[in-house]
Amino acid sequence: MAQDVPTGRSNPTDLGFGVDVGGSGVKGAVVDLNTGSLVGDRIKILTPQPSTPEAVAQTVAQIVERAGWSGPVGVTLPSVVTGGVARTAANIDRSWIGTDARALFTRALGTPEVSVLNDADAAGLAEDRFGAAKDTDGVVVLLTFGTGIGSAVLHNGDLLPNTEFGHMEVDGKEAEHRAASSVKERHDLSYKQWAKEVSRVLVRFENLLWPDLFIAGGGISRKHEKWIPLLTNRTPVVPAELRNAAGIVGAAYAAKTGLTP
Ligand code: BGC
Repeated sequence: MAQDVPTGRSNPTDLGFGVDVGGSGVKGAVVDLNTGSLVGDRIKILTPQPSTPEAVAQTVAQIVERAGWSGPVGVTLPSVVTGGVARTAANIDRSWIGTDARALFTRALGTPEVSVLNDADAAGLAEDRFGAAKDTDGVVVLLTFGTGIGSAVLHNGDLLPNTEFGHMEVDGKEAEHRAASSVKERHDLSYKQWAKEVSRVLVRFENLLWPDLFIAGGGISRKHEKWIPLLTNRTPVVPAELRNAAGIVGAAYAAKTGLTP
């Protein structure tokens, strides 16, 4: 593992704070960085509409204040993030594109220790350190199946940020237009029909990346027993373990370790 978390018994210095900004909700919590588990309640506020940078920053500040937290804060966005700047915006207001998110949150929170990263990258980090891939070396690919498909690629614990494999064209269609869980809902597909599309996407990804393990995240991973056994690709696929806490945990971890993609 490239970046070690503090080890030993929990103490206040082993705590972090993560906020996961999604299209419908902004969720935050204190995280125990020895175990990757949430400490106390997860605070959720509906994503403001329109979800402009200023409005979301105020919501994040409200969550941090409600938790009584001071210290480093990690924030995820459904965006490509380079050097703290959002480069894309999926399911949040387009005015995020080009916004210096790190500077914005630093101002809103009054703390300089802010890390901002892509939502799937945060989930991938969390699963790699604390969840489904904690005992796996080599190349691990986490995919979040939701409104779109988010991706995170790790090699021996090191994150290759902003991979965006959900937008790769697979047989004439973007992967996320084929196999996001929103596609299953929209077209009322059975698990069998949808798993066929997921397999097709996974085969393309594995032929290009040769991962040792795929981790399937997103809400639909809760029903993994209904579809993971139907997949026909060759690389093992396991469900994410941290579920809807993964983004929060990964964000807190990134902030604590100063990870800035
Ligand atoms: C976005 C990614 C994001 C994923 C999950 C995709 O549409 O391009 O940046 O990680 O959705 O929210």
